[in-house]
Amino acid sequence: MSGADQIRVARAFRRGLGSYDRAARAQARIAADLARLMAEAGIVEPARAFEFGCGTGFLTRRIAQALRPGWFLVNDLVAESRAHVAPALDAAARPWAFAAGPVQDLDLPGDFDLIASSSTVQWLPDPAAQIARLADRLAPGGWLALSGFGPDQFRELRWLGSDAQAPSYLPARDWAALLPPDLQPKRLAERHMRLAFADAPSLLRHLRATGVNAQAGQRWSRGRLAAFETRYRDAFGRGGALPLTYHPTFVLAQKTG
Ligand SMILES: C[S@@+](CC[C@H](N)C(=O)[O-])C[C@H]1O[C@@H](n2cnc3c(N)ncnc32)[C@H](O)[C@@H]1O
Repeated sequence: MSGADQIRVARAFRRGLGSYDRAARAQARIAADLARLMAEAGIVEPARAFEFGCGTGFLTRRIAQALRPGWFLVNDLVAESRAHVAPALDAAARPWAFAAGPVQDLDLPGDFDLIASSSTVQWLPDPAAQIARLADRLAPGGWLALSGFGPDQFRELRWLGSDAQAPSYLPARDWAALLPPDLQPKRLAERHMRLAFADAPSLLRHLRATGVNAQAGQRWSRGRLAAFETRYRDAFGRGGALPLTYHPTFVLAQKTG
């Protein structure tokens, strides 16, 4: 991803920050699922935890409250995210810090017992290289817990020829194949979720409010919007609503030796 692309991604997410919590129903559920998988894997009270792409804190809150890291470093590309996550981190009454900027440029201090992220890894340039770099910062026995998106993500939009998508949509098994040899995959999962919208404007508002349309450089004249809605309805309409598929994937891996 070029520097200009990164700036566009940051601008789209910054613009969506105020509406994200209300609009991002799928991402809220995905963060809850990832937190449940971490609890099932027995991850509790990691001494040092790191989360990247925290956004407004769907996963941050769950890690802070349920896993209770001894020290929690939280990151997002967008510096304004800090104000959204600070109340929950303060309430957990454990030491924490926030680092703004692209995770791939962060100089991570020391080793971590948990590195986690929900609904963000698909935005990283060269995810394999980033995962290898992060794995290097895991302590022996430390966990990597990620959610990304699979190839059916926004399948309706893809079919309609939209570029409203992130750079890397991979099935869970392909995310696992990106892991370096010293990371053992312990849990892989994926599922399909379908949101429904009354019309094209509300669907496009949803994309914008969740920062997803950073790559959708489209202009919507009234005629174009009407044509888009007609094609969408003809191809996918269900009971008068427009469905939108989310395809979350989950990877939990543990560092050996
Ligand atoms: C879809 S949101 C997910 C937010 C949150 N983790 C959740 O589950 O709701 C993606 C987040 O990743 C951030 N992001 C995108 N690229 C990033 C990068 N290279 N480094 C750090 N954060 C990034 C965006 O600013 C945004 O807040």
